[in-house]
Amino acid sequence: MNHFLDIHKTDPAALRTMIDSALAMKAARNGRPKGSPDDDRPLKDRMVALIFEKPSTRTRVSFDVGVRQLGGQTMVLSGKEMQLGHGETIADTARVLSRYVDLIMIRTFEEATLLEMAEHATVPVINGLTNRTHPCQIMADVMTYEEHRGPIGGRKVVWCGDGNNVCASFLHAAGQFGFDFTFTGPETLDPEDRFVAFARDKGSKVTIQRDPFTAVEGADLVVTDTWVSMHDPESAKERRHNQLRPYQVNEMLMSRAKPDSLFMHCLPAHRNDEATSAVMDGPHSVIFDEAENRLHAQKAILRWCLGL
Ligand code: CP
Repeated sequence: MNHFLDIHKTDPAALRTMIDSALAMKAARNGRPKGSPDDDRPLKDRMVALIFEKPSTRTRVSFDVGVRQLGGQTMVLSGKEMQLGHGETIADTARVLSRYVDLIMIRTFEEATLLEMAEHATVPVINGLTNRTHPCQIMADVMTYEEHRGPIGGRKVVWCGDGNNVCASFLHAAGQFGFDFTFTGPETLDPEDRFVAFARDKGSKVTIQRDPFTAVEGADLVVTDTWVSMHDPESAKERRHNQLRPYQVNEMLMSRAKPDSLFMHCLPAHRNDEATSAVMDGPHSVIFDEAENRLHAQKAILRWCLGL
């Protein structure tokens, strides 16, 4: 069973195949209308369930469009409207859905929910984000880097701000794709040790640097994300903003990175908090390519999961 649960749980050769396949599928569409299916329609007669227990714009639309381009059909389900939100167990939900659909994508809160869904489903399960990780996003980010600058292996990636779930998947990718990773942010928001340990064990150079200007020196890629994640309490907002203000990605900070460096943000963004509009709309930014590449990267993930 090819579940896509996390980057560190997926074979590096499979990850490489998915990135190359995503780039090839993007090139093959060559400006075709977005609603038109791909020529080969590998998901013809397949049904995919897309479950959302948290809000989404990119994940929801890109998976829905991606499945349709591959010739399949989708049903988008809200966790609250399902019996899952009213006491039915995750295990029973997984068993029932597996009788109806060919693949389940789930965005949820707890990592344990995703793992339980995968344990009891008899069809592949894709992680569409948990409080811990966001692997589909980072597959799109690796694809985006390589589309613009070639192989990401050996490059220096700098993460500014909160060591959140997206940062965690970047650390997994550092280990699997072989790039160096620097985290700059306040100590209380450091990424979890297990994510850092994975990257280091795989041979990636991981640096924790409190000074953002020192951290960004010589960066090939500068990345940030919202200062308050979906699962963080609203009460954390003011403290987070005070803690993270020194780590804002602005033009002065970007000027310390390599001249041909890229800037990424997975979106949605709070403009002029974690990154200024000057950077988001500036010459280093590839944020909308990242958003588009969710579509192509996830099509490759869907095909890999289904062996197509
Ligand atoms: N980046 C991302 O996952 O966006 P959505 O929350 O809109 O899906």
